Amino acid sequence: MLYLVLQQRFFSFSSFTRRDMFGYFLGFLLIWFLCWWIRDKLKVGKVSDKNVFITGCDTGFGNLAAKVLDRGGFRVLAGCLTEEGAQNLKEETSSRLKTIPLDITKSDSIENATDLIKLEVGNRGLWGLINNAGIPGILCPTDWLQIEHFRRPIEVNLLGPIEMTLKLLPLIKKARGRIVNVSSVLGRLALTGGGYFPSKFGMEAFNDSLR
Ligand SMILES: NC(=O)c1ccc[n+]([C@@H]2O[C@H](COP(=O)([O-])OP(=O)(O)OC[C@H]3O[C@@H](n4cnc5c(N)ncnc54)[C@H](OP(=O)(O)O)[C@@H]3O)[C@@H](O)[C@H]2O)c1
Ligand SMILES: *[C@@H]1O[C@H](CO)[C@@H](O)[C@H](O)[C@H]1NC(C)=O
Ligand SMILES: *[C@@H]1O[C@H](CO)[C@@H](O)[C@H](O)[C@H]1NC(C)=O
Ligand SMILES: *[C@@H]1O[C@H](CO)[C@@H](O)[C@H](O)[C@H]1NC(C)=O
Repeated sequence: MLYLVLQQRFFSFSSFTRRDMFGYFLGFLLIWFLCWWIRDKLKVGKVSDKNVFITGCDTGFGNLAAKVLDRGGFRVLAGCLTEEGAQNLKEETSSRLKTIPLDITKSDSIENATDLIKLEVGNRGLWGLINNAGIPGILCPTDWLQIEHFRRPIEVNLLGPIEMTLKLLPLIKKARGRIVNVSSVLGRLALTGGGYFPSKFGMEAFNDSLR
């Protein structure tokens, strides 16, 4: 008798939880979807007086980001490695966008870029810095490589962004701005040899160290 009651209880209990679990799951999905939707609806206010500096705007992600933010109404300052890259970007964007020559591996170039950025932003400060410029370098088994193959990617992808960030921090603080670091999944997983992996792992560490 007791056994039957227990069995029945257990049975009804388990079917109850199963249905219940399904309800919770649906509820969870609904809340998740709502949060997602609300987050996507959030907009940055008064973009017309927000300055964003992006490195490596000649091509790729940096170039796209410059165009998208320019279209969105931000004041984009686009760091370009080559005069040609700067010219092409200017032709495709509004007159708000200013290009700034920048070789992120040269301290005097970073210095000059910082001066130009200071002039542009005035006392508004810098609302955004996107550390995007990066090169893959040579990716191959480690024993095929020489030390020179490591230096360049580490300089462009790690030391460059660190120096740029240090220089611009005062301006970023002034605007209570933000820093976006373009890392990579290869900053978590070293798939093969090459300077790219240490550079991006380092970027992750730098990212975390200024929290
Ligand atoms: N593409 C991917 O699948 C992928 C995946 C994960 C992460 N990423 C990261 O995303 C970022 C952008 O990559 P991307 O694919 O857009 O590459 P990309 O098209 O080569 O863009 C990199 C940009 O950086 C510039 N640059 C190179 N050396 C520089 C230097 N010394 N100083 C200043 N600028 C320099 C390049 O200028 P020039 O064109 O004139 O050389 C170019 O405009 C990189 O940090 C990369 O590691 C890319
Ligand atoms: C930085 O600016 C100085 C002074 O205008 C100039 O002489 C120098 O060539 C510039 N350096 C770079 C790398 O652009
Ligand atoms: C990028 O790195 C800087 C410096 O470490 C840090 O302050 C910032 O929060 C990072 N940004 C992102 C989006 O990871
Ligand atoms: C970088 O740092 C920011 C905040 O400091 C953190 O939210 C983010 O997850 C970090 N990004 C990576 C790729 O570690």
